[in-house]
Formats: sequence, C-alpha cells, structure tokens
Amino acid sequence: MDDLSRELIIDRFQNPRYRGILNPHDIVYEDDNPLCGDHIQITLRVDENDIVTEALFDGQGCSISQASADMLVESVIGKPVEEVKQITKDDVMDNLGLELGPVRLKCALLSLKVLKAGVYGLGEGEASDDLVE
Ligand code: FES
Repeated sequence: MDDLSRELIIDRFQNPRYRGILNPHDIVYEDDNPLCGDHIQITLRVDENDIVTEALFDGQGCSISQASADMLVESVIGKPVEEVKQITKDDVMDNLGLELGPVRLKCALLSLKVLKAGVYGLGEGEASDDLVE
C-alpha cells in the first residue's frame, strides 16, 4: 500500500463521511465477513426514477472494510440502481487505489457484497461471494 492510499484509508476510517442509518430507507442489507465477524449495513433511498438519492453505511470492523464502505456508498449517490448492480470488484479496488492479498480483499469487498445483495433484493443470509466476482 503506498503512503497516499494508506493516509486515505486511515482518514476515511477515522472521519467517515457517510456513516449512519437512513430511516426510512428503500433498500437495506447487512452481512458479516465470515473470516472475522466484522459487520456492514447499508441503507439507500431511491427516487421514483430508480436513482439512488442518499446512501449510508454502518457497522464495525477493520480500517479497510470501513473506509471501503464509506467510499462505496459515496460513489453510488446519484446513480441509477441498474448501474449500481454493475459495480465490480475492480471498480472498488480502483477507487481504493490498493493492491491487497486475499484476506484483506475480503475486507475491502464486504461492503460491495452487502450493497449488491441489497439492490438485488436478496433475503437475509443470501449474499454470496459470487456477487463481487
Ligand atoms: Fe474483518 Fe477486515 S478484518 S473486515
């Protein structure tokens, strides 16, 4: 991880811009990283044109999981739900500017798994790693 990316992650972890729970919300999903138990919940508000108007994350976990969630929810505000469904692992990693090993990759992608399970309307416990391949 280069110094700039490290600073960005630490700043987002310590000063998240999009932490919270939208109430009411149109879309909600939550899940854990099975390797460590760290948790992310994402809530979205969507307008009549299926555009995401507000997005927040909540949860607890390592700096990479929380910073990644903060940046991910920021990136979906203003996007059509159909476009959010197309976000890939590479999009998240480009946004973070990191190269990570397999364990830390799971940290970075937990929020994407939660987000995609939410926009696809999956039920509790139905999110799988296939969503972030
Ligand atoms: Fe748990 Fe990173 S160590 S999500």
